[in-house]
Amino acid sequence: MKFKIGKFEFENPLLLAPMEDVTDASFRIICKRLGADLVFTEFVNSEGLRRGSDKTKLKLKLFDEERPAGIQIYGSDIQAMVDAAKIAAEENPDLIDINAGCWVRNVTGHGAGAALLKDLVYLEKLITDVVKSVNIPISVKTRLGWDEKSIKIVDVAKVCENSGVKLLTIHCRTRSQAHKGLPDWSWIEKVKSVVKIPVILNGGVMIPEDALRAFNETGCDGVMIARGAIQNPFIFKQTKEFLAKGTYSEISLEDRIQTMFEQLEIAVIIKGERKGVIEFRKHYSGYLKGFYNSAKLRSELMQFYTIDEIKNHIYHFFENNLHYPEITTGKIE
Ligand SMILES: Cc1cc2nc3c(=O)[nH]c(=O)nc-3n(C[C@H](O)[C@H](O)[C@H](O)COP(=O)(O)O)c2cc1C
Repeated sequence: MKFKIGKFEFENPLLLAPMEDVTDASFRIICKRLGADLVFTEFVNSEGLRRGSDKTKLKLKLFDEERPAGIQIYGSDIQAMVDAAKIAAEENPDLIDINAGCWVRNVTGHGAGAALLKDLVYLEKLITDVVKSVNIPISVKTRLGWDEKSIKIVDVAKVCENSGVKLLTIHCRTRSQAHKGLPDWSWIEKVKSVVKIPVILNGGVMIPEDALRAFNETGCDGVMIARGAIQNPFIFKQTKEFLAKGTYSEISLEDRIQTMFEQLEIAVIIKGERKGVIEFRKHYSGYLKGFYNSAKLRSELMQFYTIDEIKNHIYHFFENNLHYPEITTGKIE
């Protein structure tokens, strides 16, 4: 089903999930180039924004190329969330997303993230006030409930719709499950039967086949990918291909390395060389997974602080290794 958010129209979109310390602008831009239809910043602390913290404000920066893009904010205090939405709105994001799903204790312990699911009256007031405070579409990303005994997602979806939310993403696990255990996608259909707003499925989409199954089995309006994109940023390209043609291509070693350098270069332009390189380290594994001796290469790359060193080392490494028949682009595991 087609749907619109602001001036953008979507049909079976693939969304890059908000991920702390992962979905910075460099990764968002690359995922966009590889086919992601909508990308999100990591969660941004509403109190930090209100205090005017420079470090927190930097997380709001969006580049034209990554649009449509959403900024995710989190917090428990309604006025802080309203103020944060107003500050985020100055960056003119295409969406502002309210985090009502984070499971980590130092977030829920302050009543934010998934803890917002404990009191739906409060949640409704928080969302309504944020919606009223800005002229930008508001989305919510949440979970099924706090634990398996308190699954409230159908009521939460109604609260979201009644409060003016334009898009709802459901991570189909409870807060107690954190990131473990099987997501229960069956709730998507139940939610869709009670609300008209688009419902995005999140949780457990790791390969293109999962995305097709998600669309077919649940009737979701879109699929949001988190860890599957860290493990393989090409998942967006491959999934698009798979949805259109029923098959998808493997990604060659050359393409992986070229795209890896592309992201690294963007990161360095935005953050400076040392910070860009250090913060990029978490991405080596996604780009280099599955190649002969890639674990050794990844650990060797951790010692470098400049792009030139990294490039030289990689070219040298593959020159010395390319004669091994085991080097193939392989199937992504
Ligand atoms: C490293 C990491 C950081 C995350 N940070 C956020 C975040 O900032 N905001 C949020 O809503 N979810 C966050 N999540 C949760 C993901 O967005 C997603 O809901 C979850 O990983 C399930 O999707 P998946 O099965 O595709 O990984 C994070 C997950 C990971 C792995």
